[in-house]
Amino acid sequence: MSKTPFNSYDRAWINANLATMDCASPIPYGALCDHAIVVHEGKIAAIEPMSSVSLDPKMPHVIDARGAWITPGWIDCHTHLIYGGNRCREIESRLKGQSYVEVARQGGGILATVRATQALNESQLVAAALPRLHALAAEGITTVEIKSGYGLTLVDELKMLRAARRLAQEAAVRVSTTLLAAHAVPPEYAGRPDEYIDLVCREIIPASVGLADAVDAFCEKIAFTREQCARVFAAARAHGLPVRIHAEQLSNLGGAQLAAEFAALSADHLEYLDQAGIDAMAASGTVAVLLPGAFYSLGETQKPPVARLRAAGVPMAVAGDLNPGTSPFVAPRLMLNMACTLFGLTPEESLAGVTRHAARALGLGDLLGTLSVGKEADFLVWEIEHPAELVCEFGVPRLRQRVFQGRDVRV
Ligand code: NIG
Ligand code: FE
Repeated sequence: MSKTPFNSYDRAWINANLATMDCASPIPYGALCDHAIVVHEGKIAAIEPMSSVSLDPKMPHVIDARGAWITPGWIDCHTHLIYGGNRCREIESRLKGQSYVEVARQGGGILATVRATQALNESQLVAAALPRLHALAAEGITTVEIKSGYGLTLVDELKMLRAARRLAQEAAVRVSTTLLAAHAVPPEYAGRPDEYIDLVCREIIPASVGLADAVDAFCEKIAFTREQCARVFAAARAHGLPVRIHAEQLSNLGGAQLAAEFAALSADHLEYLDQAGIDAMAASGTVAVLLPGAFYSLGETQKPPVARLRAAGVPMAVAGDLNPGTSPFVAPRLMLNMACTLFGLTPEESLAGVTRHAARALGLGDLLGTLSVGKEADFLVWEIEHPAELVCEFGVPRLRQRVFQGRDVRV
């Protein structure tokens, strides 16, 4: 008999194989075969081998997993899910030879989406984003990070953050919000980026307290310098907000190192990351968020230094970067596959990238990301024989059940 009192459980899944993704386990995927997982008040209350539990499969709240695999709910820790319009015509031009930087310098790119996003009100933004959110959820996402960054005015940035908060009420998905006001220099500040950074630091960041869970900045030649990002991060810190960065995507400006100096939760993209940046991230515990969708879509050839990140012990998350310009894809399993085939992650690292390490990139590592007693009962029941199938196959429907806060949301 189990020592765990099962009389007060809400639901239990029995005869399951658990890919706990708990790094304390020496077994690949932290696998626990032939186990039961018990939920109480939205949290994981017990994980026990079937040999030591006595749960009757005929009881109404006992679900016989019949040998299925259960993983933690997937976390997409970097998206630009909320935007107006789309940029497929621009992508068509890029496919005919124009570069992303050329498009941006001609006022397209991010600024094209800024115009389309400013034109929509909060409800219209929610309506535009909802199908994308539902599609992510149907693929197994239980937590999504959503950035602002297509508003670029006080009013429009706050509108995006409010829309993101509203989306959390429209679907069984947890939403983490990030202020990305320092995404591009708005046209009205052309040639005066420091004045725009003044606005970000003095008005937009203070006004976002309570609406944003973190502050991000795009450190790049077509966006902001290291010094400008440092000012944004100092303002975020003054308002108690953790920071993240888009860095070393198209060139190396030392953004990841800067972010690490501010104990950033994550540095994202990182194709041009150098050893100094890797060492700084390792020292500060900053998560490397790899975004293979953008790398693929832009036809990049410079890859993030995965082997050196691994050697330095930097945790690597994998995210979709869902956005209309460089990653217009709602396809988490494709991203996991690309992280392996394009960047050299193992399937186990890739799965850790959308669970344990993604949770940490959002500062939610104590709550989410592994199947562990006490964590949120967000998990996925998959019809597979081995977790590697989730990464190596694409397009084959395998998700049987999606459990969010202990409630089973059938898919
Ligand atoms: O993460 N790098 C900057 N921002 C987005 C692209 C946004 C866009 O092109 O609209 C990214 O790739
Ligand atoms: Fe991004």
